[in-house]
Amino acid sequence: MKNPFLVGERIYLRPLERTDVPLLQAWINDQDVIRNLLNFRPMNVQAEEEFVDKVTRDPDLITLGIALRSDDRLIGNVALHRIQSRDRQAGFGILIGEKEEWSRGYGTEATRLIVRYGFDALNLHRIWLHVLEHNERGRRAYEKVGFRVEGVLRQSAFREGRYWDTITMGILRGELIDAPPASGQNPPARKRRSARARPAR
Ligand SMILES: CC(C)(COP(=O)(O)OP(=O)(O)OC[C@H]1O[C@@H](n2cnc3c(N)ncnc32)[C@H](O)[C@@H]1OP(=O)(O)O)[C@@H](O)C(=O)NCCC(=O)NCCS
Repeated sequence: MKNPFLVGERIYLRPLERTDVPLLQAWINDQDVIRNLLNFRPMNVQAEEEFVDKVTRDPDLITLGIALRSDDRLIGNVALHRIQSRDRQAGFGILIGEKEEWSRGYGTEATRLIVRYGFDALNLHRIWLHVLEHNERGRRAYEKVGFRVEGVLRQSAFREGRYWDTITMGILRGELIDAPPASGQNPPARKRRSARARPAR
């Protein structure tokens, strides 16, 4: 492992480096990825370098890269943002940019790692997130960790020519669901769900 900060079973979370910029830039300009995100802008190298510099400085933000323990490959990043000291709460965000790694359980594991860190190390009371209604993969991952639906922001996101609902989810300290016991087998093959009518972001 290279510079691990939080270590899981198959992944670890580590600080982002400027050398990660080409990967981060490729992900954040990939329409398949950003169709799931709430906020995005086209990012050039300079903008991405500023992002990496910012996340190491901003006291209200913890952003970590998601790397595979098997080969140290960076596959995404995960964050707690808008960390509020009085209310002891923060927002959560995640992006796995390597699309061939989707639905292999890494997003669930990364979410669980940083949520546990938020409760146990940052002394948070609540962590919230926003997810677009069509992002069933994300919703399922968050539910497995213990996030619950708290509300629906109706037609709040305009993507691909129409409005979509944004779902707000939250998890309180004590609601984190531990990972099921390891089976001792290899990582599961990527599960394929039947493709739904391709929704917009
Ligand atoms: C959302 C994201 C973080 C999830 O991580 P992941 O590693 O792909 O997800 P996981 O494998 O941990 O969990 C996904 C779950 O959703 C299920 N799933 C996949 N496609 C699904 C679908 N169309 N409908 C319902 N469930 C689906 C998977 O089978 C899995 O559940 P299971 O373990 O019970 O079978 C990742 O896919 C990603 O970064 N996507 C692009 C950017 C993004 O969406 N960011 C989040 C914005 S809120």
